[in-house]
Amino acid sequence: MKYKSVVVTRRGGLEAVQIVENELHPPAQGEARIRILATPVCQDDIAIRIGNRPFLRKPPFVPGYAFIGTVEAIGENVTDVAIGDRVAALTQFGSHAEVIYWKASKLVHVPDSLNMAEAVTLLLNYLVAYQILHRVAQVKAGDKVLIVGASGGVGTAFLQLGQLAGLKMYGLASVSKHALLAEYGATPIDYRTQDFVAVIRHAEPDGLNFVFNGMGEEYFERGLALLQRGGALIHYGAPQSFAHFLLLVSKLLVHNVWPNGKKIEGYGTHRLGVELFKEDWQKLFALLAEGQINPLVVQTFPILEAMKAYELLESGKVAGNLVLLAPELL
Ligand SMILES: NC(=O)c1ccc[n+]([C@@H]2O[C@H](COP(=O)([O-])OP(=O)(O)OC[C@H]3O[C@@H](n4cnc5c(N)ncnc54)[C@H](OP(=O)(O)O)[C@@H]3O)[C@@H](O)[C@H]2O)c1
Repeated sequence: MKYKSVVVTRRGGLEAVQIVENELHPPAQGEARIRILATPVCQDDIAIRIGNRPFLRKPPFVPGYAFIGTVEAIGENVTDVAIGDRVAALTQFGSHAEVIYWKASKLVHVPDSLNMAEAVTLLLNYLVAYQILHRVAQVKAGDKVLIVGASGGVGTAFLQLGQLAGLKMYGLASVSKHALLAEYGATPIDYRTQDFVAVIRHAEPDGLNFVFNGMGEEYFERGLALLQRGGALIHYGAPQSFAHFLLLVSKLLVHNVWPNGKKIEGYGTHRLGVELFKEDWQKLFALLAEGQINPLVVQTFPILEAMKAYELLESGKVAGNLVLLAPELL
């Protein structure tokens, strides 16, 4: 029996992506074989193919940051999951495929009742926003915040979770996406044509509590300028190259020794352990089940047509999430 995967064969554009067939094999000890039902498409799936990241995996590789699927076989000594269980994981690579082999202890159970396309957006985009809001910033109702990159996958998760937390939100986005930001109660600002520092200073003369930055280090100075004393800029945007990475680290160091009562904190999913993911995913699954969050799934595609989703995300027209689904869910 065989299965197919979406494979990046070399650095480059969409022509570097191919569908490759492999033989199924029994899972190794401690591992489960999972038939993928849903997997999100995110900015990093594209950046790692093009080469816009400082530390890159050599092709060939299968992209795909997360999945939900059904366990179809387990290796020896697997006690965490059983055949037929609906499970999920954060993988960083490997999820854009019909099948994945994954360490059973890193899987989390997913309630069968959830809409799979919506639930799969919680694994990365909502996790990042949730952990930054509640573990790093520890926001409280009434806090004033700026979301840089508010219309994307992570950005819209910030908007929904921020609205739920009672935050007063400002968001940077292209004009075509402003109505969406307003729906979540955020004040939209066009970073291309407006001086967002002037706009926010006028509206919030006492300054902001937090800036959440999903873009580059070019937002550090302006973000810090908007903070009140005791405020923090939380940076989660991935650097585009090694030079950007060095710039980012040096700016973090310089700004944090400057005695102005403001700080910059970095966030990356790789810094937190899988046990914290599991805890936060359960909270997010519960919010989805209760209808308190409503992830914006703009479009779905068959898993093996991932290239169409990559092309659409690269166009910059997407406000929300793109999801790849197994044929039976389409
Ligand atoms: N640290 C982590 O663990 C982690 C995890 C996930 C994602 N990330 C990072 O989070 C960022 C967003 O990822 P995503 O998957 O949500 O991307 P996405 O869905 O493609 O959204 C990115 C959004 O940023 C906006 N944008 C582009 N250039 C901008 C600029 N110069 N200033 C302000 N906004 C701009 C675009 O919307 P407009 O049309 O409105 O400009 C776009 O919708 C990426 O840098 C990614 O690497 C980090």
